[in-house]
Amino acid sequence: MRNEIVHIGAGELNYEIRNIMKVVERMKALGVEVNLENIGDPVAKGEKIPSWMKEIISSLAMEDCSYSYCPSKGLLETREFLAARNNTNGGPRISSDDIVFFNGLGDAIAKVYGFLRSTARVITPSPTYTTHSSAEAAHAGMRPICYPLNPRNHWYPELEELRNRVKYNPAVSGILLVNPDNPTGAVYPVTLLKEIVAIAEEFDLFIIADEIYQNIVYNRQETKPLSAVIGDVPAISMKGISKELPWPGSRCGWIEVYNSKKDPQFAKYVESIVNAKMVEVCSTTLPQKAIPRILDHPEYESFLAGRRCRYERFSEIAYNSLKKVDGIITNRTNGAFYATVVFEEDRLNPRQRLPIANKEVQSLVEELCSAPGMEPDKRFVYYLIGAAGICVVPLSSFNTDLHGFRFTLLEQNDLKFRKTMETLAACMEEYLESVPASTSLPRRVLTAQ
Ligand SMILES: Cc1ncc(COP(=O)(O)O)c(C=O)c1O
Repeated sequence: MRNEIVHIGAGELNYEIRNIMKVVERMKALGVEVNLENIGDPVAKGEKIPSWMKEIISSLAMEDCSYSYCPSKGLLETREFLAARNNTNGGPRISSDDIVFFNGLGDAIAKVYGFLRSTARVITPSPTYTTHSSAEAAHAGMRPICYPLNPRNHWYPELEELRNRVKYNPAVSGILLVNPDNPTGAVYPVTLLKEIVAIAEEFDLFIIADEIYQNIVYNRQETKPLSAVIGDVPAISMKGISKELPWPGSRCGWIEVYNSKKDPQFAKYVESIVNAKMVEVCSTTLPQKAIPRILDHPEYESFLAGRRCRYERFSEIAYNSLKKVDGIITNRTNGAFYATVVFEEDRLNPRQRLPIANKEVQSLVEELCSAPGMEPDKRFVYYLIGAAGICVVPLSSFNTDLHGFRFTLLEQNDLKFRKTMETLAACMEEYLESVPASTSLPRRVLTAQ
């Protein structure tokens, strides 16, 4: 090429949740039956869409106006409906003007970071949902700036660390939080949210809160939407219907902007995001029409409550199966539908293996694992797919130095999920003990002494 044409941030774009499917396809071609625990799509995992919801959508599909463009920010009646819902939180009041629709939150995330000045950084959690960290790093053309979530403390953010990293990095202009969290399943108590808001206030930052799982909280965990604690701090909350209805194929999500007028820079930044949507014309119309009808349907709350109940039960099954494994950190999740396991430091090494009966599959796994720079947790994940047909996502692909993996709680069948969790626990034990860490003796030897 005459000129460099590749964006400086191109190398930051990575989405292992889907990348891993290339490996799965190769294993399937060799006869491995794979149980997909990698993608957060409830419908793909067999969740049933109730017939009353389908009736709402099919009746909308019979109306001609569902096929037209809608206003750039989104349908007025839907934005009014959502603003009114937010205004029951007791926080700053918003109007339909403070809401902008996107083609899924993935689109919102791309625009929110894409229209931020490249020298202005948003500090992201580590680990975090990579669409955020990749988009943020790509906009800056640099590695993400992160604050750690602590697996030994319910995966809550280390606030002192967050404060210091904000304090000593003047480029940091915003803080991202994800509540309930993907990939950890953590739900933040109100006090913690208030402390993050206080840091933003102290250093004159804005907040981005991804609240796509806001109504998927269980185990009687108490939290609040960001808008209830935000006070006067400028903020963007991201919400959507992919997980909650669930309707990920609708490609429909929105942002709510709080305190947009409190800071002229922030107001201009939000305006640039709205203008970007205008240039693009608008977002998907039909799902926007469906939102008020579905959320106001008399059966909606009980439908959602039933789903929360199942996630709570599966969270318990996963925790009880995995907590027995020596050498890992596991947590009981309280929200969303993911759980994350971390291997303790120095427990993984490149000689560990799982036995794989099919020789061709074994060769493929060995070949994949011999790639230069192979992350130790990715190695475990490849062995797990080859040996047990369970596909999870390596934790190292979630913007963290920790090693482990994320799996979903979306299985429909209790027995199958129990079996998957027991197999997962057995595979971790076998893998770790195949070549134990030199610094620590395996549990079997310890208990024999
Ligand atoms: C935290 C979080 N934010 C955003 C998204 C993307 O949502 P959408 O389907 O609306 O693009 C996901 C999807 O997994 C997610 O987990």
